[in-house]
Amino acid sequence: MPQVNRILRGQTALVTGASSGIGRAIALAFGAAGAAVGVNYRSDRKAAERVVTEIVKHGEAAAFHADVTDERQVEAMFAAFLERFGTLDILVANAGIQRDAPIAEMTLADWRAVLDVNLTGQFLCARAAIRAFRARKQAPPPLRALGKIICISSVHEVIPWAYRVNYAASKGGVMLMMKSLAQEVAAEKIRVNSIAPGAIRTDINRAAWATPAALEALLELVPYGRIGEPEDVARAAVWLASDDSDYVTGTTLFVDGGMTLYPGFEGEG
Ligand code: BGC
Repeated sequence: MPQVNRILRGQTALVTGASSGIGRAIALAFGAAGAAVGVNYRSDRKAAERVVTEIVKHGEAAAFHADVTDERQVEAMFAAFLERFGTLDILVANAGIQRDAPIAEMTLADWRAVLDVNLTGQFLCARAAIRAFRARKQAPPPLRALGKIICISSVHEVIPWAYRVNYAASKGGVMLMMKSLAQEVAAEKIRVNSIAPGAIRTDINRAAWATPAALEALLELVPYGRIGEPEDVARAAVWLASDDSDYVTGTTLFVDGGMTLYPGFEGEG
C-alpha cells in the first residue's frame, strides 16, 4: 500500500456519481485516506465495481445504486449504506450532468434533467445525510463534527455560461442551497461546504480538451496554465471532509487554476 496520510481513518463516506470523473477520484482518495466508501452509481455498475475493487485492496467500500433524482431510490440507498457501514460521517453530493443547447432550442426536458440531477439530487441526498447525522446524536470520538456535507458545484455558480443556462442555474442554486443549509445546521456541528471545480479533465468536457486546438483555447481561460485533474479536486475534498477543516462551513472552495480571476482582464480594462 502506498504511504498516504490516513486522515479519514474510521470514517464512512457516501459519494454520489462515483463511477467516473471527479466522483471516482474522490471515492479513491477517500479510500486511500482510510474512509469506508459508498460508491454510488446510476447506470454503470461495472465501473462502480471497479472503483470498489480498487479501494478494497487496502480498505472498505461497496457500490450502491440510486438515481439521485428519485426520492425513493435515494432513501433506499441511504438505508442500505447505514445497514452496511453502521453510520454516516461524510456525504459528497457530486452527481451532475450537462445538457447544453442554445436557449431557443433548449427543451423543457433538457432544463428539467439538469436541474433535477444537479440541484434536486443534491437536496435529496443532503436531506437524507442530515437525518442520518442527527440519528446518531454525537460523532464517534475523537471526531469533532457531527457530520460533513460537500456539494460539488462549479465555477459556473458565479461565471455565467451561454448555451448552458440550465447548468449555470443549477450550480447557482447549489451555492445558495449549500449556504442556507450550512446556516441552518451549524449549531448542530454539521459542516456544509462546496467545491467549485474549473476545467477538470473528465468525460463531461472532453470536447474542451481532447484536441490540441481545443485545449489551447481552454487554457486561455486558466491563468495557472494547465487543465485540472480529478485528483486536484479529490485532494481538496479529503481536506474538507477531515477535522483539519473543522472551522470551515458555508464556504465554496474554488479548485480552478484561477478561472474565476477574470483572465481576460489581464493588462486590459
Ligand atoms: C463543466 C465543464 C467545464 C468547466 C469549466 C464545469 O462545471 O462541467 O464542462 O469545462 O465547468 O467551464
